[in-house]
Amino acid sequence: MTSAGATFRRVFGYEAEGLWAAPGRVNLIGEHTDYNDGLVLPFAIAQRAEAAIAPREDGHIRVCSEQNPGQITEVKVTGLRPGLPSGWAAYVAGVPWALECESGFDVAIDSSVPVGSGLSSSAAVLCSVAIGINEMFELGLSRRELARRTQKTENDYVGAPTGGMDQITSLLATIGHAILYDVRADTTEQVPFDPAGAGLTVLVIDSMIRHEHSGGEYRARRSECEESARRLGVPALRGVSVGDLPLAVKQLRDDLLIKRTRHVVTENQRVENLAGALSRGRWGRVGELLTEAHASYRDDFEASCVEVDVAVETVLAAGALGARLTGGGFGGAAIALVRAEDVSGIEDAVAAAYSSRGFRAAHMFAVAPSAGAERVV
Ligand code: GLA
Repeated sequence: MTSAGATFRRVFGYEAEGLWAAPGRVNLIGEHTDYNDGLVLPFAIAQRAEAAIAPREDGHIRVCSEQNPGQITEVKVTGLRPGLPSGWAAYVAGVPWALECESGFDVAIDSSVPVGSGLSSSAAVLCSVAIGINEMFELGLSRRELARRTQKTENDYVGAPTGGMDQITSLLATIGHAILYDVRADTTEQVPFDPAGAGLTVLVIDSMIRHEHSGGEYRARRSECEESARRLGVPALRGVSVGDLPLAVKQLRDDLLIKRTRHVVTENQRVENLAGALSRGRWGRVGELLTEAHASYRDDFEASCVEVDVAVETVLAAGALGARLTGGGFGGAAIALVRAEDVSGIEDAVAAAYSSRGFRAAHMFAVAPSAGAERVV
C-alpha cells in the first residue's frame, strides 16, 4: 500500500481494507461564481489525498492523518454532529454524517495537496473518504450525489460557506480536461485542456500566505453577493449579464456592492470566453483572460494580497502569457500560463522578486490536468 496505507498500519496496527484517492484542483477561471449560480472552469491536479479505510464492528470512527501525527480522533458514528469533532478531523467525520452512513470505520489520511494554498486540500480529503465509504458500505450514491453531500459536510458540518466547485472537480475530473460546470443548469462538460500539447505549462506559485474559508472574508464576500442579488431582484448574480450591468450599477447605488457584482458578472463572461478560446486553440487569448480575471479579482472583489499580486506582475514581466490568483483568495497561489522553455527563468524571477521584498520564499511547481477520485488498492 502507498503512504496512507502505511500510516494506517502504523497507527492502528493492522491492514486497511482499501485505499481511495481524490485530487486537489486548480481553478483555471471562475472565482466566487459557484455560489452565485455561475460558471467555473477548474481541473484536477496530480496532488491528492488518500484515505486508507477498514470497517469496524462497534460503530466507532477513528481518524488519523500523516499530516497531524500523534492525533487520533475517536467518535461514535451515532454521535456525529456539527462541531463534534472540531478541527481538521471534522472534514473526515462530517462525511459519514452527510452520507447518512451508520457503519463505523478506521481511516488514515495522507495528502500531498498543500493546505491553505487555494488548491482545495479540503475537497481532496472529503472526496477520498466519501468514495471510500460509499464503496465499502455499498451506499450506492452517484458521484454527483457525493459532490452534493460533501459540500453539505463543508457547509453544515465544518461551517465553511463554500460553493460546490471543488467537490465536483475532485469527483468528476478526467485526465486532459478541465470541467465547465454551470451551477444554475447543474451541468458539467469535459473541456479538452492540453497546455503541454501546445508547448505550455501551468505553473503554480504558492505565495505561502494562508487563508481559511470558514473565516470572515470569504463569508463576507458571499453575503455581499447575496445582498446585491436581493437588491437587483434576481435569485443569484448569475441572473445579471454584462449587458445588464449599467442598469444594475444604477439600482445598486453602493460602490462596494457594484464592485462585487461587476466581478461576478464579468467573471462568468470570462469563463465562457476562455472555454471558447480553448476550443479554438487560442492560447494567447486564454492568457489575456487569466490576467483580466486577476485584475477583477484584485480590484473589484478585493480578494488578493500583495504577495500574489507581486507573483502575477513578476511572471507577466518575465514573459508569461497570463496569470491570476486561483482559489478562494486572501492568500494562496497564483497560476501562470507559461511557455515550457520559460519555466525556469520565470521561477528565478519570482524567487528574486520575493527575496528582494523580504517575502517568505514562494513554492512553485507545474500542474497538469489529472484524474478524478478513484480507488487505488
Ligand atoms: C473556494 C470554495 C469554492 C469557490 C472558490 C472561489 O475554493 O471552496 O466553492 O467558491 O473558493 O471561487
